[in-house]
Amino acid sequence: MILVIGATGRIGGEVARLLVSAGSPVRALIRDRSKATALADQGVELATGDLGDAASLDQAMQGVDRVFLVSVQDLRQAELQGNAVDAALGAHIGHIVKVSGIAPSVSPGGPAEIGRQHWQTEHRIEATGVPFTFLRPGFFMQNLLETAAPMVSELGLLAAPMDSAPIAMVDARDIAAVAAAVLTSDSHYDRVYDVTGPRAFSYAELAAVLASATAQRVRYVNTPPKLAANVLRRQGKPDWYVEHLAEMAELFRAGAGATVSTTVRDLTGRPPQTIESFAAEHASSFTQDGVSRLVHTAARLGLTVAGRAASVSRAR
Ligand SMILES: NC(=O)c1ccc[n+]([C@@H]2O[C@H](COP(=O)([O-])OP(=O)(O)OC[C@H]3O[C@@H](n4cnc5c(N)ncnc54)[C@H](OP(=O)(O)O)[C@@H]3O)[C@@H](O)[C@H]2O)c1
Repeated sequence: MILVIGATGRIGGEVARLLVSAGSPVRALIRDRSKATALADQGVELATGDLGDAASLDQAMQGVDRVFLVSVQDLRQAELQGNAVDAALGAHIGHIVKVSGIAPSVSPGGPAEIGRQHWQTEHRIEATGVPFTFLRPGFFMQNLLETAAPMVSELGLLAAPMDSAPIAMVDARDIAAVAAAVLTSDSHYDRVYDVTGPRAFSYAELAAVLASATAQRVRYVNTPPKLAANVLRRQGKPDWYVEHLAEMAELFRAGAGATVSTTVRDLTGRPPQTIESFAAEHASSFTQDGVSRLVHTAARLGLTVAGRAASVSRAR
């Protein structure tokens, strides 16, 4: 039995799906069962629990051989994941597979809080003596759906404080595929893998890829870091998160995302997703729908658009 922690998230959900389709029995630690109907439909056993509740972790780990551990970026990440490590030790788990941070950030004195916390959890796992595998992924392509898609679709702008830094972005589903390969083999004990996409590219190149996928103009705006932080604060993001993103952007500008690994191909036998195919797959997320385009065009012309029926009248 494999326990997947973080199964309602981007990586964990795909890990559970891949393991079930490979015939492995899977249990998922779930905080909110209403988010887990798709998992249950796939045949995943659900264990209600929380990383903050040690008893629920002990319960969820009964009869489990391996644990997959990922959770949300959070200032309590090391403390919460540490609870899972303690429970795994108590339950005599045979293998812990943890999603960590991008390699240059994972260090006790690293510049980014979440990277330091990933290091603490890695260190804690190593100290248990339980066989482990740490996956250190690059920048997720899926981040673009949250950060870039709204401004690309609405304004044709890709604003980020990244200079011309090359970043080997990776599809979260490829990280999941690597995790599933690791969890179904005995060959990856006590190993650390960097997991990246197939090539590093700058944000200017990314803008060109998005322009080509959406057949619209997309311009990269290299935002001053202070301005980027202010925009995030105005969006209501908490201070620690704004600071974390600023620290990560500084790391990327210094070249931390440039290294390309062969892990996806080596462990899954197929090449990783390219940014071109990711952009094509998600082109609609980066494209204004017809009504929004009409509203924007009308606004530029001093007109207002009434309702979804898109009748246009002269603004007063
Ligand atoms: N984004 C990047 O570019 C990037 C790059 C490298 C590494 N990483 C690392 O990747 C990880 C995030 O992966 P992801 O994007 O797959 O995560 P995600 O989509 O944010 O999902 C997080 C999962 O953790 C679960 N979770 C959160 N708190 C929990 C708790 N207290 N108890 C039990 N479960 C809990 C969530 O459950 P609910 O649905 O109940 O909330 C959800 O299933 C982070 O550690 C981050 O540092 C990210």
